[in-house]
Amino acid sequence: MSSASAALPPERIAEIRSQLLGWFRQHARDLPWRRTRDPYAILVSEVMLQQTQVDRVIPYYERFLEQFPTVQALAEAPTAEVIRLWSGLGYNRRAVNLQRAAIAIVERFGGEFPRTVDELRTLPGVGAYTAGAVAAFAFEQDVAFLDTNMRRVAGRVVFGDDAAPETRVLAAASDLVPPGHGWEWNQALIEFGALQCTARRPACVICPLRESCLASASMQQFLANKKAAPRKEQAAPFETTTRYYRGRIVEALRGLPAGEEEGIELARLGGLVREGYSDDDLPWLRSLVDGLQRDGLAVIAEESPAYNAGGPDAGEKLRVRLP
Ligand code: ADE
Repeated sequence: MSSASAALPPERIAEIRSQLLGWFRQHARDLPWRRTRDPYAILVSEVMLQQTQVDRVIPYYERFLEQFPTVQALAEAPTAEVIRLWSGLGYNRRAVNLQRAAIAIVERFGGEFPRTVDELRTLPGVGAYTAGAVAAFAFEQDVAFLDTNMRRVAGRVVFGDDAAPETRVLAAASDLVPPGHGWEWNQALIEFGALQCTARRPACVICPLRESCLASASMQQFLANKKAAPRKEQAAPFETTTRYYRGRIVEALRGLPAGEEEGIELARLGGLVREGYSDDDLPWLRSLVDGLQRDGLAVIAEESPAYNAGGPDAGEKLRVRLP
């Protein structure tokens, strides 16, 4: 792993390692997934943390492990229960993929968690980042992997550039992992990106790496001149997006009383998720529900012949429920 060595002479590697680990030993938060090496718990935490902040994840993580304490328990659970427990975390597809990963571990690996990055990557919903995180945080392997924040930190320190090319940053990150300390190093990189070397307001002036970071000088100058930058405008208000309505539909299905296990009629569902819903909205709603079904988040329980024929009561008999 020497493709980045030109950028990183050994003295610099040693300096960066010792500065970052020194900082982490002083500033690390005591987070529940840092107290375990159980690969299942680590996988749960990493999937939850993919799009959600630490403080929001903690109660979900604890509840999830209470209800599904092992990979076997999750594999055997009704999917609807898993989706219900995810309520409020968002990106519900993560819940379905997490259960699919548990099923794959039980069926393909005899319930024994795979240990290599390559095997981990064969699990549903597990990409390079998550596979690396499980290898490092559960099995304490000296591997490198990058999410957006880790990439930003390594890119700044090594190349002086937030947006250095992914392959170069990954090569540098591999060179930086201190042998025997993959767990601590990668947690440190994550923590540093979350608390110190943040995207919009890196604390360069008090940074322990300011002597060795290639971005430090330019970043300090930039920050000194910067007016409070307005946040990037979202292209469209969230309430108009497909993701918003997908979330509304799953939330409505979660809320169905026990007596409605057979599902809710499509037209009634439309009224629950969109104000002023009318029959004209049926094709729109149907395509959303089809998408949710493809992703394993909903089941169309009963086909209406009238819908297939495009009849006037199209969709009225169609029932939707959680899987
Ligand atoms: N985000 C992703 N992984 C994390 C971890 N292990 N600790 C804190 N935040 C994280």
